[in-house]
Amino acid sequence: MYDHLSVWLNGRMIPWNEAKVPILSHGFSRGSAIFEIFGTHEGPTGTVAFRMDQHLNRLMKSAELLGMQTGYSTRQIADAVAETVRVNKIGRGLVKILAYWGEEAIIQLVLNSKLDVAVFAVPASEELDLDNETPVAACISKWRKLHPDTVPIEAKACANYLNGYLARKDANLRGFNVGFLVGTDGFLAEGSVESVFLVKDGVLKTPPLGRILSGITRLSILQAAPAIGIRTSEDPVLPEELFTADEIFVCNTGVKILPVARFEARTLEVPGPVTRQLMELMNGIFNFSDGRYKGWFSPL
Ligand SMILES: Cc1ncc(COP(=O)(O)O)c(C=O)c1O
Repeated sequence: MYDHLSVWLNGRMIPWNEAKVPILSHGFSRGSAIFEIFGTHEGPTGTVAFRMDQHLNRLMKSAELLGMQTGYSTRQIADAVAETVRVNKIGRGLVKILAYWGEEAIIQLVLNSKLDVAVFAVPASEELDLDNETPVAACISKWRKLHPDTVPIEAKACANYLNGYLARKDANLRGFNVGFLVGTDGFLAEGSVESVFLVKDGVLKTPPLGRILSGITRLSILQAAPAIGIRTSEDPVLPEELFTADEIFVCNTGVKILPVARFEARTLEVPGPVTRQLMELMNGIFNFSDGRYKGWFSPL
């Protein structure tokens, strides 16, 4: 489906079909890869990326937390993203960056080489459904969020996603779209690939950093909400609070804000008033009618 596209790999543009790793590569066989994913948008003067600086900093942070090095500066990776988007003529779409050990390693556990870096850019499509705002059904997963003492959960590491995969699979088997992971400390953490927010008595609440991925959509919502008079809180959230929340929504870079219309056996009116205001705010940011957040977009 993407055969006609090109991929930036370690400084060269190559055909999509040639962007491959050996089965025995460390990245594939040990899951030692890290990644970033973020949206591109059709700005008034060309394609722009949403908060690319934040995403590239998080990529570097992931490498650092895992004792890995990419061998590229954020500037070089930013240039690679711009080149990939330009060559593939992407407007609205997604960029995915993967940094991984591509070398074969049958038994070696710790490698000292620099990570390979690949940059993919794909256009929005029916399959990706990037601007979908259909409300979702969410449940509490039977799986707990990985404990931060077991792996650095703030690293966006491919191997960490088995945890999210299990939560999503469990949720789907029970007839829900999204599963919320609770930490082993008993507090709400996040969804498989989404940050979780709830609204109670007009206050927008979301779990604090430390036990969740530092979501960039989460950050953006927390930064923008006060401008429209919404109070925010990043205090620990008990899962029980979801049963009495006035509104619940999830968000990530792909889907922005998705209201939760059903939580376990509860039905919620969607979008609730605060969620609606935030969706309008975010849509204004993404369609560039709200000029206050121009600095959040990097020209590509
Ligand atoms: C575990 C997890 N939490 C939260 C998010 C949301 O992060 P962002 O808003 O940066 O996309 C993601 C995104 O993929 C994720 O994988």
